[in-house]
Amino acid sequence: MSEEFYFMDGNYVPSSEAKIPVRCHAFLYGTSVFEGIRGYWNEEEKQLYVFRAKEHIERMFNSSKIMFMDAKYTLDEYLDIIKTLIKKNEYKENCYIRPEVYKSSLKIGPGLYDCDDSVLIFTIKLGNYFKGDEPLKVCVSNWNRLPDNTIPPRAKISGAYANTALMITEAKKSGFDDAISISADGKVAEGSAMNFFLVEGNSLVTTPSTSNILVGVTRNTIMELAKEELKMEVVEREINRTELYIADEAFFCGTGAQIAPIGSIDHRPFGDGKIGKKTLEIQKLYDDVVRGKVEKYKKWCMPIY
Ligand SMILES: Cc1ncc(COP(=O)(O)O)c(C=O)c1O
Repeated sequence: MSEEFYFMDGNYVPSSEAKIPVRCHAFLYGTSVFEGIRGYWNEEEKQLYVFRAKEHIERMFNSSKIMFMDAKYTLDEYLDIIKTLIKKNEYKENCYIRPEVYKSSLKIGPGLYDCDDSVLIFTIKLGNYFKGDEPLKVCVSNWNRLPDNTIPPRAKISGAYANTALMITEAKKSGFDDAISISADGKVAEGSAMNFFLVEGNSLVTTPSTSNILVGVTRNTIMELAKEELKMEVVEREINRTELYIADEAFFCGTGAQIAPIGSIDHRPFGDGKIGKKTLEIQKLYDDVVRGKVEKYKKWCMPIY
């Protein structure tokens, strides 16, 4: 297939025709909310499953509400559009689906009032976000995660990703793979664009939804799988910086990152620096669940074909 389709303003258009004007409010002021959703190709079934699309769209409705945006379509309509778009793009491999609700008026001034909303959805073929098999070398970022009453991390707002951009750039330029974000009070928030878990014995520890995090769909998935399938205890609590250095294992999780094992934080390795045992178990289970290979959790996988 030569050119892919994007969904824009109610139509499926060739990607080269999907254009946004220079004076679009979202471009000038970062006023769009979005989701990142993954589709996984199951080779045995010759089926593409989109993972927890419903939960992503519901989160986008919440982001839209916070930002005075009208997301235009119902949940079922979004799911239908995603199915149609992937079918039109004829994907038979892993992919990424990116819906955006954005302020589209050519208005000067950042106010969210008197400003039209538009919806676009694009898809791309996508492999792994983190390359390589080695666990990640991670630092604690010098940049703080934004608190809820600045640009709320609970909403997935494009403008807020300037914060993530500074973190990841600083980390990479300093020779790390990624960064952990800390709030102004010194407490751990999450990764740069992922949630974060520590493993302590048979417990999984993660920061609560009030710790200036995006409350991740993958995070919720891991919490349920760990409790139900791996019989682990899951604890949501504040995490101090020095706890990062003495836990048994740590990993990031997110739609993009999937389950990304961490080998060291601020030059302090976990164990022998290899992927931790619990992390590996969680990673394997997650990889099967997202591909619709675990019957009990097929309810989370939306078939496309
Ligand atoms: C800041 C941030 N935190 C957490 C996540 C993980 O969220 P999810 O698992 O819903 O993809 C993301 C992913 O997009 C993110 O950008």
